[in-house]
Amino acid sequence: MSETTPATTRKLPADFDRRAFFTKIGLGSLGIAAAGTIVFSYEYLSPNVLYEPSAIINAGKPESFALNSVTMDVNSGIYLVRADEGYFALNAVCTHLGCLTAWNQDLGIIACPCHGSKFKRTGEKIEGPAPKPLPWLKTWVSDEGDLMVDRSTDIPPLQYLRI
Ligand code: FES
Repeated sequence: MSETTPATTRKLPADFDRRAFFTKIGLGSLGIAAAGTIVFSYEYLSPNVLYEPSAIINAGKPESFALNSVTMDVNSGIYLVRADEGYFALNAVCTHLGCLTAWNQDLGIIACPCHGSKFKRTGEKIEGPAPKPLPWLKTWVSDEGDLMVDRSTDIPPLQYLRI
């Protein structure tokens, strides 16, 4: 017959200190609470800002655009046009309800797929519900010789960039 020792009479290790054990648990809990407070305070105090891509586009070297070409940059929503008179950039967003227009090489027009507005290569409206022409955008050549476009700045039409 084997004897078992009741749980209440078991000896604890000599270095076990109940007070130290509960102190460590308490300090650990306070540390976790403090860390959570710091994280949520940072989230609360940091500005709730939506970061958008820059309005300034580097379109590359001007000579990379063929004469009398219309090049669309889908990512930035602009057309880069190299005409006999010079370079210019158009906002490719339709002035009716904001659809992205498309260049039709065969017809030589810019067409909106949503409600049928059509524009000349210069942005001038041909037909459709669009209330305004496609706006011209500020263009310049950087110190490095790249063609730059500012999507946020409209300019009056027919101000060609001559290089
Ligand atoms: S959004 Fe282009 S015609 Fe309506």
